[in-house]
Amino acid sequence: MEKTKIAVLVSGGGTNLQALIDAEKAGNIPHGKISLVVASKPGVFALERAAKAGIPSVVIERKTYADKPSFEEALLKVLKENGIQMIVLAGFMLVLSADFVKHYPDKIINVHPALIPSFCGDGFYGLHVHEAALKYGVKVTGATVHFVNEVTDGGKIILQKAVDILEGDTPEVLQKRVMEQAEWIILPKACEIVAEKLAKEVALSEDFDDYDSNGKIPLKTLLHHDK
Ligand code: GAR
Repeated sequence: MEKTKIAVLVSGGGTNLQALIDAEKAGNIPHGKISLVVASKPGVFALERAAKAGIPSVVIERKTYADKPSFEEALLKVLKENGIQMIVLAGFMLVLSADFVKHYPDKIINVHPALIPSFCGDGFYGLHVHEAALKYGVKVTGATVHFVNEVTDGGKIILQKAVDILEGDTPEVLQKRVMEQAEWIILPKACEIVAEKLAKEVALSEDFDDYDSNGKIPLKTLLHHDK
């Protein structure tokens, strides 16, 4: 079975990218291959992580494009040119439009550093999420991996993991604990769940195509007529 070709989109340090690279190396993402890293900014440390792992990378900066549609068009072009079948947002700080998302339905996943539906949506990213959790006074937070749809942090949840908030936590201390105890664990797991599903779908559709080459009635056609 062909592995699902994955692009990881990043904007910063890339510790979640590193967790994915390490998981793939350890054989924990057997149905996926990290084939491309796309950074939204030049010079971010995530690019060094990609280079060290021998993964091709590209920088596509929002500000070098006139508007969001032309930025997303450039992003889509690079993804398609590289045969990317699945996208992982790993600390990617831009919100993708509904127009973009429809090119990869149920094929984009995101890691968010809170238990959705708490502390999520527009304006909740990075350290701000932990600041908000501490300000509210919740005793438990965590991380969520979810599908990306047209609503910010609104897609179907794939995995979540809870993390305790401790006395004296600062946003930075809490961010590190959430990463270590939740994000770096559930992101690779969710990545494999989706990569496996997509790899199997592709294999199945190729099986259907075999019927054509054998001169039989294609199964696809039969299914279509049943509707
Ligand atoms: C991570 O905590 C990730 O969950 C968060 O940014 C950090 C990126 O760290 N993402 C969001 O807030 C998206 N809404 P990393 O670059 O070290 O992976």
